[in-house]
Amino acid sequence: MRILFLGDLVGRSGRNAVIEALPQLRTRYAADFVVVNGENSAGGFGISEQIFLDLLDAGADVVTTGNHVWDQGETLVFIERHDRLLRPINFPQGTPGRGAGLYKAANGADVLVVNAQGRVFMADIDDPFRAVDRELDLCGLKRGADAILIDFHAEATSEKEALAHFVDGRASCLIGTHTHVPTADEQILNGGTAYISDAGMCGDFDSVLGMDKEEPLQRFLTKIPTGRFVPALGEATICGVAVEVDDDTGLARAIAPIRLGGRLSQTEPAFWLPDAQPGT
Ligand code: FE2
Repeated sequence: MRILFLGDLVGRSGRNAVIEALPQLRTRYAADFVVVNGENSAGGFGISEQIFLDLLDAGADVVTTGNHVWDQGETLVFIERHDRLLRPINFPQGTPGRGAGLYKAANGADVLVVNAQGRVFMADIDDPFRAVDRELDLCGLKRGADAILIDFHAEATSEKEALAHFVDGRASCLIGTHTHVPTADEQILNGGTAYISDAGMCGDFDSVLGMDKEEPLQRFLTKIPTGRFVPALGEATICGVAVEVDDDTGLARAIAPIRLGGRLSQTEPAFWLPDAQPGT
């Protein structure tokens, strides 16, 4: 089966680019299941219910989040109404919403999606390793789930690599998010789990992490906040990852980055292009 993941949508630029392109991308790649990280989609901070619904309408099956999930106050309320919106699973007990769910893909497969958040250079929340471990124990590959995607929203690549090795052979893929910069380390680990440290963002790369350059630059220069961070509004690059999952084992057969539009070098998964030969 084919899983398409798109990285952190930042502001109007990234959000509109994804809402506009996703219906065609889903068809072009014949994707069976689509996950997008939407935690920066509302003005760069959090997600609104309307944006969440627009992303579902555009073709997302699940929207993941991270440390900015509660930046829009309404999210604390509406997250309870939507089982396709996830927040990190290792938030404190009693936090609204859910960190994992089992969803039906277009090909009929049951896909477990787990959203976790790192602790290195981030808030001191519960242990992501034990939280993910518990989830995989409850609903493992071929023991409830035909495929398993983990969105690990974390700052440190060390923590991301470590969690990937921890779940290697037990998940279809572990995809890093949060740094907004796509990495070039996509690989299939020895046990069969596809991995990339960061999928990158969907947003304007003429920016500082998707934000207009001026205020972040001034803060680095002076350490004095002089205004608000606002998203950069230039053309977005859509950054994501394509994962081909073996239907028999639930493990990964291939992983490739996606970068479309905007300023970054362009790439698409060759094994999903319409003229690709079977097996390539
Ligand atoms: Fe984040």
